[in-house]
Amino acid sequence: MNPIGLDIGTNYTKATKDGKKVTIFPSIVVYGEEKDWSLKGEEKEVYVGEEALAIIQSLENVEAMRPLHEGRLMHQSYMELARHALKVLDTNPDTIATGLPVKSSKSEREALARDLKEQLKVEPLIFPEPVGTLAHLGIDTGVCVDIGFGTTDIVVLSHMEYLRGDTLLVGVDWLYENIEVLVRNSVGISITPEELTGLLTTDCEVGRVRSGKRITISQKDISSEYEKLMKSWIERIVSRTKLMLEGLSTTIVDNLVLTGGGSLLPGVYEEFSRSFEEVAKVTRPDDPVTSNARGYYALAKILFGDEEKEEAEKASEKGKDESKKKGKVKKEEVS
Ligand SMILES: Nc1ncnc2c1ncn2[C@@H]1O[C@H](COP(=O)(O)OP(=O)(O)OP(=O)(O)O)[C@@H](O)[C@H]1O
Ligand SMILES: [Mg+2]
Repeated sequence: MNPIGLDIGTNYTKATKDGKKVTIFPSIVVYGEEKDWSLKGEEKEVYVGEEALAIIQSLENVEAMRPLHEGRLMHQSYMELARHALKVLDTNPDTIATGLPVKSSKSEREALARDLKEQLKVEPLIFPEPVGTLAHLGIDTGVCVDIGFGTTDIVVLSHMEYLRGDTLLVGVDWLYENIEVLVRNSVGISITPEELTGLLTTDCEVGRVRSGKRITISQKDISSEYEKLMKSWIERIVSRTKLMLEGLSTTIVDNLVLTGGGSLLPGVYEEFSRSFEEVAKVTRPDDPVTSNARGYYALAKILFGDEEKEEAEKASEKGKDESKKKGKVKKEEVS
């Protein structure tokens, strides 16, 4: 079998064909407009990933399409991103293992499975998003909180079976929207989520040209507001997670995992862990951005790998039976 693990998130698409190396690109699709000139001699109709990001960062008023909005699936851009992932990975898989928000509807999941089957000719496997990280860590009983860009997803598993879960419409976007408004009100420029991530995690400077002037901001301009907003945001996620854990056996809660790119923002893991001090130790995978994709790949290997093994065993059993029969016939012929 030849599966890929594909995690199409609101902000980033993560894809792997070996469970180790993960390709990441922005989950953005832009439909091209006709331009007066094309210096590279190409006019594309659709731009995906890095190219689409470059367009929206250099031009204002271009409409960017993202695959998920408020936890709901936007089919057209989702399929464009899936196709792009196959192109970048340079593979032609027979199985795509992927995830959707925990509270996605059954009809959404069925429609996605149908589209993947019909348009990409693959066998689809769809999991609740945080299950990928638990599978990646080899945990079959535990809790995972995935702070993504659009949603925060919580899942509780017992022996690899879904017990309960939830999707909160407060992902990193809630935090970023608040910071973006602050920036816009104070210096009058709009910045993209990708620029804000750079500002918060690597301290790069971000700027625009406004009325003939160069306007820039850096991390120190927003750090005290960030701290306040981050704490109240995490507080909301923590209180909903605690509700979800109420009454659960401590053996389940012993594996409490925090994942998703949101867990890498400054202070988030520390704040979340502190709030659960009296419940359990919170762990975080090495790379919380890619752990779902790796886990989906592992799950495809386990689920379909087992089927393949069974088939191979059956075939070899059949082979043995037939050779026994043949042997018998030969012996009979001899006698
Ligand atoms: N090193 C990093 N790389 C990428 N994102 C990071 C990093 N550090 C922090 N982040 C934050 O994580 C966010 C993306 O997280 P993630 O990839 O888990 O979201 P998503 O899967 O796109 O969204 P969702 O799961 O809600 O659909 C970014 O918007 C950014 O704010
Ligand atoms: Mg995600």
